[in-house]
Amino acid sequence: MRVLLQLGLSLILLAPQYATTAAAPSPQCQSQCGNVDIPYPFGTDEKCSLSKGFSINCTVQNGVHKPFLGDFEVLDISLTHATTRVLNHILGFCYNISTRKMEYAGLFGGIRSSSLSPLRISDIRNKFTVIGCNAFASISDYDGTGYQGMGVATCRHLFDLVDGSCSGMGCSQTTTPNKMFDYNVRFSSFANTSLIWKFNRCSYAVLMEAASFKFNVLYINTTKFNDTNAGRAPMVYDWAIRDVEGCDVARRNLTGTYACLSSNSKCIDSTNDQGYMCNCTHGYEGNPYLQDGCKDVNECNHNPCPSDGFCRNIIGEHRCSCRVGKRYVKESNTCNPDTSFIIGVTMGLFGLIVIIVITIFWGQMIIQKRKLNKVKQEYFRQHGGLLLFDRMKSDKGLAFTVYSQAELIRATGNFDNSKILGKGGHGTVYKGIIKNMPIAVKRCVLVDDRQKKEFGQEMLILSQINHKNIVKLLGCCLEVEVPILVYEFVSHGTLFELIHGKNHALQISFNTLLRIAHEAAEGLCFLHSYASPPIIHGDVKTSNILLDDNYMAKVSDFGASILAPSDKEQFVTMVQGTCGYLDPEYMQTCQLTEKSDVYSFGVILLEILTGQLPLKLEGSETQRSLSSIFLSAMKENNLDAVLVSHVKGKESMELLRGLADLAKKCLDMCGDNRPFMKEVANELNRLRKLSVHPWVRIDLEMDAESLLGGESTSGYEIELNGYPMGESENQPINPRSSYYAR
Ligand SMILES: *[C@@H]1O[C@H](CO)[C@@H](O)[C@H](O)[C@H]1NC(C)=O
Ligand SMILES: *[C@@H]1O[C@H](CO)[C@@H](O)[C@H](O)[C@H]1NC(C)=O
Ligand SMILES: *[C@@H]1O[C@H](CO)[C@@H](O)[C@H](O)[C@H]1NC(C)=O
Ligand SMILES: *[C@@H]1O[C@H](CO)[C@@H](O)[C@H](O)[C@H]1NC(C)=O
Ligand SMILES: *[C@@H]1O[C@H](CO)[C@@H](O)[C@H](O)[C@H]1NC(C)=O
Ligand SMILES: *[C@@H]1O[C@H](CO)[C@@H](O)[C@H](O)[C@H]1NC(C)=O
Ligand SMILES: *[C@@H]1O[C@H](CO)[C@@H](O)[C@H](O)[C@H]1NC(C)=O
Repeated sequence: MRVLLQLGLSLILLAPQYATTAAAPSPQCQSQCGNVDIPYPFGTDEKCSLSKGFSINCTVQNGVHKPFLGDFEVLDISLTHATTRVLNHILGFCYNISTRKMEYAGLFGGIRSSSLSPLRISDIRNKFTVIGCNAFASISDYDGTGYQGMGVATCRHLFDLVDGSCSGMGCSQTTTPNKMFDYNVRFSSFANTSLIWKFNRCSYAVLMEAASFKFNVLYINTTKFNDTNAGRAPMVYDWAIRDVEGCDVARRNLTGTYACLSSNSKCIDSTNDQGYMCNCTHGYEGNPYLQDGCKDVNECNHNPCPSDGFCRNIIGEHRCSCRVGKRYVKESNTCNPDTSFIIGVTMGLFGLIVIIVITIFWGQMIIQKRKLNKVKQEYFRQHGGLLLFDRMKSDKGLAFTVYSQAELIRATGNFDNSKILGKGGHGTVYKGIIKNMPIAVKRCVLVDDRQKKEFGQEMLILSQINHKNIVKLLGCCLEVEVPILVYEFVSHGTLFELIHGKNHALQISFNTLLRIAHEAAEGLCFLHSYASPPIIHGDVKTSNILLDDNYMAKVSDFGASILAPSDKEQFVTMVQGTCGYLDPEYMQTCQLTEKSDVYSFGVILLEILTGQLPLKLEGSETQRSLSSIFLSAMKENNLDAVLVSHVKGKESMELLRGLADLAKKCLDMCGDNRPFMKEVANELNRLRKLSVHPWVRIDLEMDAESLLGGESTSGYEIELNGYPMGESENQPINPRSSYYAR
């Protein structure tokens, strides 16, 4: 504890001293001598250098400044390698022709120094070089007590020698040990040139930088060189700060001066004898022996990065980077394509395109939807939907719905073919389900402009028609080009199927057919009397008389006449109604009247009576139309010929004749002569009673005659009014049971 305390105290005390001893050389100190830089720790003065050993003698020779280190002229000083190159003296050993003796030539061939000197002769870069054809030179440390080495060079003729080769023939090189700070060179006089002086008078020896020596035969040629050969050759010194053993001690010994003052400097142990030197750390350059001497290297000045890359200098190092899309690879110092970047960019672009496409798509969708809505609204307005809405608002009790297109599409499975109930002249009927209720959806074929405007109004009238023998119009859809009508769904087929379908004759009693005809007549009568001008069905036929669960008749498709165009231009193509049922008068006038419906109904009565189709395509021209067949049979008073077989003899002839008469009247060529629907209904009612109540036969026949004659009646009408239509008699009819009942 006490030791630590003392150490700490001494550290504090010594810190300022350390700072002062490490003071930098004064700015007045020369940093150059002649052409040679003199960096600290060297200096041209003892005060300017780190120590006496680093002091350079800058003197003037022949008017030129030359630096000297001891006896030798300095060539250069390197801080990074801690070396100094000087010019060493070449020692000559020549034969004096006049004295006939061997003589030394040149300056002292050796170095006198001490181990205190920072300089050591570089053992790596220097070689002891001897030249001659009979030369034997020895080298030793100065006092000759330690190291001993020698160089021997021999030859017989100059032409034995090769330029550049220094391996014993005329030239030899010997390595020297390290830690050498002084040496001495001697020639042996026994190996002399006394006999060969004519071509080789002098031998030479020098310790010199091996890299700067290249043997030349001329060095030996007598006529070429003088005794001294003006001899100088470069030699390399390793220098270091020798007062401590190495870096570890130097860093620890705070009483001494640690020479590596600069930040970003490091200490390196000397490899040639004890001591250390300093170097700037990687990325810095300058003088590590000076405060802040190590400066950041701008590596980018010498382009360390790939030629297609960029260099950025940062403190102590640099960074290379590459163009966009390339990645810098440090190992090879190249810019390589950056696959991840390319993939990233590609993915990014792809994502962007997808987003744009989706955006455009959505935009289009929204625009399309808006357009569609606008079109829908336009149709709605055109079809008088607003008027309809107004009325619906004021008339709260109205059981009429304005459906949206989407609702109907959903209800019918987008008007699927499998949902088709039937196809008519005016459109196609689909089965649909809305709110668990079956409906029949009629898509009309087309309408003209006149009717478009009146459509809403007419829908309103039709919607108010509420009769048990008329299919109820539940609503319509106006937001489409051609309005769609929605009716109640009637489940048990049509009168057509009942008469002309398979097994018809076996299952359906004539009474039932009669009842159905009566109900249909009541329905049509209601239509004709409901409004003024009368609502004309326009397409009365057995397939438009639907049957509900109780086989009760329901007249359908009565809106057709309203939807069908009646323009003068269009009447040619748009014939109303169905062949076989068509009012011949309408064919001429193109004017539908309520009597047109009566004519068509007459054809229905014929179908019931005869069980035949109104038009037989396979028959001869006169036999084609059921009505003409019937009328000609009536003319010939041969009703039996046309009656359906299972009726003959089973039903009273009176009933059948009554029916035939009624049909005949309905089929009158002149519309005005035909009875009104009301009269037809009443007559049918009467005939039905004839069938079930034989006792009123005579009365009714009389009444019927007067009725058909045009006079109004009283007697049975009262009875008829009290008659609960359909209710008591129209009990569910099981076709099978009715068959067995007969
Ligand atoms: C410097 O060198 C010159 C010439 O070599 C010499 O005369 C002089 O004494 C030297 N000075 C020192 C301080 O060594
Ligand atoms: C000093 O550093 C330089 C550059 O960093 C290097 O070339 C040189 O070899 C180093 N010197 C020594 C003695 O390690
Ligand atoms: C040889 O020796 C003489 C006498 O000492 C001297 O004068 C002469 O310069 C020498 N010759 C050479 C070439 O050194
Ligand atoms: C030359 O060397 C030989 C023997 O190697 C010796 O006898 C002679 O004296 C030497 N001559 C000179 C001038 O030293
Ligand atoms: C010495 O050099 C001279 C001049 O270059 C040359 O003429 C002579 O032949 C050389 N002597 C020998 C022995 O090579
Ligand atoms: C030989 O020495 C003299 C005097 O030192 C000099 O003038 C001459 O240039 C030298 N010759 C050669 C070839 O070096
Ligand atoms: C510390 O350095 C001083 C002078 O530089 C030296 O005298 C002393 O022996 C050194 N101490 C150690 C432990 O190296």
